[in-house]
Amino acid sequence: MSRAKTDWRQGFIDRIDCRVCLDEPLAKHTTLGVGGAARLLAFTKNEESLSEALRFLNSQAINWRVLGLGSNILVSDAGLPGAIFRLSGQLASLKLLDHGRRFIDVQVGAGLAMGRLLAWSLKQGGGGLHPLVGIPGTIGGAIKTNAGTSLGTITDRLVEVRVLRRGSIRWIAADSLAFGYRCSPFGSRQIILAARFRLPQTVPVKIERAYQAARQKRAGQPKKVRSAGCFFKNPQSGSAGRLIEQAGCKGASQGSAMVSKLHANYIINKGGASAKDILQLSQRVTRTVKQKMGVRLEREVELWGRFRPAGLGTRSK
Ligand code: FAD
Ligand code: EPU
Repeated sequence: MSRAKTDWRQGFIDRIDCRVCLDEPLAKHTTLGVGGAARLLAFTKNEESLSEALRFLNSQAINWRVLGLGSNILVSDAGLPGAIFRLSGQLASLKLLDHGRRFIDVQVGAGLAMGRLLAWSLKQGGGGLHPLVGIPGTIGGAIKTNAGTSLGTITDRLVEVRVLRRGSIRWIAADSLAFGYRCSPFGSRQIILAARFRLPQTVPVKIERAYQAARQKRAGQPKKVRSAGCFFKNPQSGSAGRLIEQAGCKGASQGSAMVSKLHANYIINKGGASAKDILQLSQRVTRTVKQKMGVRLEREVELWGRFRPAGLGTRSK
């Protein structure tokens, strides 16, 4: 390892108050269970240490990214240079702001797991979050990807988002932001720190019923297997899963990566798949669907890092 490269990591450890893992396999931090090492994975607990860390990395021209629960990314087997942040502590906390007669206002750190917010809202009688049942990941990751289902998306109850950008932090009204189908206005240099939601007061038994119905709607999706959810966005013409099935790709495999036999828009890691296997299988699916169905699928899952061989349309985002 060259000196310049070790120096920034030591400098980071000396200056920034947070837990750090060096050369941490990202396979441990992604739902697909693949991905090489991050040079440095930092668990930042508050806005101050995160801001300080970014100042330091930017001054050293070191790349960085924010990782949620890794449920919508495919990380290269070669791993990632630079630093990766996970948001924990205050940045993954939950605070009741107001328990009014009609609404419950809640503020959550972007690193909070979706399931924690859903469980809390059920107890408190805060409705409206049922569209998010079954979506793994963090609040920050969900806002960045505008996660949702046919029942609605995370932005439906979102009031404000707290964002760190170019060294300054501010609250932004959600209705001033342009969210779309699985996309948000947030780029890779903006970090979502927290969000405020307004939930309609609802009796818990009704919420529980809505959660059950939402769970039921997901019955045809693979569970307890490694995946990143739907690999492709649905094209305007309908369901990517149906197109992939009609193109004959259900059950297709590459190494230990397989197009799920249950839901064809899920690429699963049966155990021991590489990121390369998964990417190549997804590229076969894209080609076959284009040839047989005349539809060009767009990936929903983000690629992180470099993928070889080059020239396969594998630009990382
Ligand atoms: P990650 O995958 O870690 O990151 C995704 C993107 O968000 C990256 O660009 C990352 O840099 C960015 N990001 C993360 N945190 C922040 C932050 N604080 N600030 C700025 N950027 C940030 N998705 C759906 O929409 N609907 C579904 O029904 C659904 N079902 C799924 C089912 C399964 C079994 C799985 C594995 C995935 C599913 N997904 C679904 C995909 C995924 O769970 C969502 O996209 C999720 O919201 C991603 O959150 P994450 O924290 O895991 O983000
Ligand atoms: N279908 C098939 N074959 C398959 C899969 C689906 O024919 O292999 C058919 C189903 O029978 C159904 C239709 O396609 O008639 C739609 O399927 P489904 O209800 O499973 O919904 P989807 O469009 O495949 C979308 C989201 C999911 C979300 C569900 C539930 C996308 C890309 N996918 O799936 O989100 O959970 O609706 O609302 O928008 C994700 O984004 O990661 C994700 C899982």
